[in-house]
Amino acid sequence: MIILVADAAAVNRASAVLRAGRLVAFPTETVYGLGADATDPAALAAIFAAKGRPVNHPLIVHLSDASELDRWGRDIPPSAHLLAEAFWPGPLTLVLGRGENISLAATGGRASVGLRVPDHPVALALLRATGRPVAAPSANRFGRVSPTTAAHVAAEFAAGAVGGHGAIGPEIILDGGSCRVGVESTIVELTGSEPTLLRPGGVSAQAIEAVLGRALHPASGPSRASGMLASHYAPQTALEVVGASEVLAAVAAHQAGGRRVVVLGASSDLAASLVSSGIVSSGIVAAMVLEPVDSTEQYARVLYRRLREADELGVDCILAVAPAAAGLGQAIADRLAKAAAPRP
Ligand code: TXA
Ligand code: MG
Repeated sequence: MIILVADAAAVNRASAVLRAGRLVAFPTETVYGLGADATDPAALAAIFAAKGRPVNHPLIVHLSDASELDRWGRDIPPSAHLLAEAFWPGPLTLVLGRGENISLAATGGRASVGLRVPDHPVALALLRATGRPVAAPSANRFGRVSPTTAAHVAAEFAAGAVGGHGAIGPEIILDGGSCRVGVESTIVELTGSEPTLLRPGGVSAQAIEAVLGRALHPASGPSRASGMLASHYAPQTALEVVGASEVLAAVAAHQAGGRRVVVLGASSDLAASLVSSGIVSSGIVAAMVLEPVDSTEQYARVLYRRLREADELGVDCILAVAPAAAGLGQAIADRLAKAAAPRP
């Protein structure tokens, strides 16, 4: 496993690795992906082995351009073209009929496939150079926090990593810096009679509904996406979601119990009032605020990085401030709820 700054030579080298049926980690605008040729069952098997992911959990397949939709999908409804036109390249995955050349190994045996065109110059250059659709789940071990830097990916697959085995992983990690969006793509299924929101993400449900001119149905029935399991995106450290007005009392309760906490997602104003209350200090890790955030975009961008940092600090609890409900807040709230859920 080597990390390469993602210049043109590194991208070409990585595309040769993909074409040879091996794994490459690469940046997208959402999170880093662990990629393999989506037409090669053996390469896809290596993804599931490296992640420790159940083989019936389907992967998202990345395309270099919306014009490839009809080639790798089938029975594409007009609504898919509308959404592709509006949001690709971008953080939206469309679940559609599986084109016959997409390996069943990529879709967990399903007749449908999740397709997206990522909005990142390195991802797009890699896809063009490879000339094949690239299946890529987030480049983390199953159930853990998604990586938003190349160093996070390396930590996931390093020998001795928590839950890891160090034997397999990406041959090359393309380093394209920190991911701009910071949470995964929104997943919309278009195979049934109603467009269905399988996972909130980087494009808000409201924006999708505005383009479709109709409401998205909520996902129902047994979990259809691995990100829909109760516990997922989970740091090692326990996490509690609290309303902004409850933070002070929650910190005090933990301190009274001798537990060390960090506060994540506080606004600058809330952070200032916590510090002036004297209960939180920025230096001593009895209670501290991790990077105040003043928009949902900023909250999403720092979320996974700060969850990893809390693990490194070795605190007893992460108090995450509930985000605003609108827009990206829905995706943040979803990830926080899964990080807070009882672990299996
Ligand atoms: O932003 C993202 O979507 C990132 C970057 C790398 O593109 N990828 C990502 O992949 O989050 P992953 O594997 O961590 O999550 C993919 C989700 C899973 O919850 C999976 O179950 C769902 O997509 N999915 C993929 N294909 C599907 C299908 N045919 N039907 C239903 N769900 C599907
Ligand atoms: Mg994932």
